[in-house]
Amino acid sequence: MSGKQIIICMCILFLSGEALALPWWLNFWSSDTTEYTYPAEVANSCKENECPSYTVVNSFGDYELRRYEPSVWIATNVTGRSNELRSAKRSMFWSLFRYITGANTEGTKIKMTAPVLKNMSRACDTCEGISTMYFMIPAKHRNNPPAPTNSAAYLVNMPAMEVYVRYFGGRPSNNEKMTQLENLEQSLTRDAKNYESSYYIEAGYDSPWTMFKRRNEMWLVAK
Ligand SMILES: *[C@@H]1O[C@H](CO)[C@@H](O)[C@H](O)[C@H]1NC(C)=O
Ligand SMILES: *[C@@H]1O[C@H](CO)[C@@H](O)[C@H](O)[C@H]1NC(C)=O
Repeated sequence: MSGKQIIICMCILFLSGEALALPWWLNFWSSDTTEYTYPAEVANSCKENECPSYTVVNSFGDYELRRYEPSVWIATNVTGRSNELRSAKRSMFWSLFRYITGANTEGTKIKMTAPVLKNMSRACDTCEGISTMYFMIPAKHRNNPPAPTNSAAYLVNMPAMEVYVRYFGGRPSNNEKMTQLENLEQSLTRDAKNYESSYYIEAGYDSPWTMFKRRNEMWLVAK
C-alpha cells in the first residue's frame, strides 16, 4: 500500500469503533467504556489534533458544563430510521473526508481536526430522524473556508453554545453509548438542568489505533 492509501485507510477507521470488528487485543487493552472517570491527562487533550476552544463553566462530578466559542464546520447529513442513521456513518465520513482532501473550490488540503461530531436526532426504528456529521475547520481556514464541490457537504457556522458533557473511555458499542446518554440525562434530571432533548451529540477524538486514554463524549445542548 502507498502512504496515501494507508492514510485513507486509517481515516476510514477513524469513525469505525463499533462498525468494524477490531482485533480482540485492541479491545482488550482499552475496554474501559462503562465507568465515568475523567482523568486529568485526558480531560483537555486532543492529542496532536486541533480542536475547538471551550471553557469549563462548571464541573458536577459525573459531567461538566462547557461553553464553546463560535466555530466553523464542514457537515453532511442523512435522513432515516435509527439503524439507517447508524449505518450511514461511513458515507457521511467519506463526504467530509473528500472535502478536506481537496474536493473544494480551491483544491485546498485541510488538516484533520478533532472531535468528529455526530448530531443524532431521536429517531426510532419506525420513525425517521436526521443525523449530521461534522469536522471542524481549522482556525487557519476559518475566516475563508473553501466551498465544497460535493453537493452533500456544506459549511456550518456553529454559534457559541453551552453543552453538558459526559466523558467515557474505551471503544464504546452503540449500546454503551446509549447507556452513557441515559446516565447523562439522569444526572441532568437529578440536578434540574434544562437541555435540548430532541437530539444528542457524540464526540469522538481518537483513531481506532489509539490504544490508551481514549476520549469519547456525549453532549446535550444546554438551554
Ligand atoms: C442538531 O441537529 C438538529 C436537527 O436535527 C438541529 O436543529 C440542531 O441545530 C443541531 N445542533 C447543532 C449543535 O448543530
Ligand atoms: C442536509 O443536507 C442537505 C444537503 O445535502 C442540506 O441542503 C440540508 O439543509 C441539510 N439539513 C440540515 C437540517 O442541515
